[in-house]
Amino acid sequence: MKITFLGHASLQINIGDIAILVDPFISGNPKAAHIDIDALKADYILLTHAHQDHILDVEAIAKRTEAVIVSNYEIVTHYQNKGLEGHPMNHGGNWEFEFGKLKYVNAIHTSSFPDGSYGGQPGGFVIEGEHKNIYIAGDTALTYDMKLIPLQTKLDLAILPIGDNFTMGIDDALIAADFVACDKILGYHFDTFGYIEIDHESAKRKFFENNKDLMLLEIGDSIEL
Ligand code: NI
Ligand code: MN
Repeated sequence: MKITFLGHASLQINIGDIAILVDPFISGNPKAAHIDIDALKADYILLTHAHQDHILDVEAIAKRTEAVIVSNYEIVTHYQNKGLEGHPMNHGGNWEFEFGKLKYVNAIHTSSFPDGSYGGQPGGFVIEGEHKNIYIAGDTALTYDMKLIPLQTKLDLAILPIGDNFTMGIDDALIAADFVACDKILGYHFDTFGYIEIDHESAKRKFFENNKDLMLLEIGDSIEL
């Protein structure tokens, strides 16, 4: 499994020859100007919630790639009404996709579309694929529900928001890592705009002092699991 950070909360995940995009917000992110959305591959697009900083490039990419949009029922219906492909889920639901098993899990946040219309309830994803298991938290507060994840899945990586203000900050992400029983964390949802700027060195040090590894990737860089 290969995971590429595309800036903010946008990820590309490659499992075998399947390409999965998560929360594409690239053309509106000046820090990601070197990422060409017309060159991104996508068989699936996973959306954690309907906020602009998670869905901005969905229509352009889905139209070009005919990717299947996977999210909550309301978000998927919104895109199906525009003629795009979708697979609706809801919290607690699992589905076996060609890349592996996906579960839509709880997040504490909000989920309106940019025009204010209802975007269902926000979530995160647990993916079990190619013998590697990851958790993509989405935008969320620290929540006790995270403790449910390791009851069923031994994670190899947890992708957690760390920018504070709109989501968990570093101190809560450290507790979240304990809740999901994973010492390997990829931080996201930081530095994109003023409210969520963080001190990288202090963030990494806090994790290191707690025997955990916080990875902060440059936009466009990848890790292999
Ligand atoms: Ni959000
Ligand atoms: Mn967000």
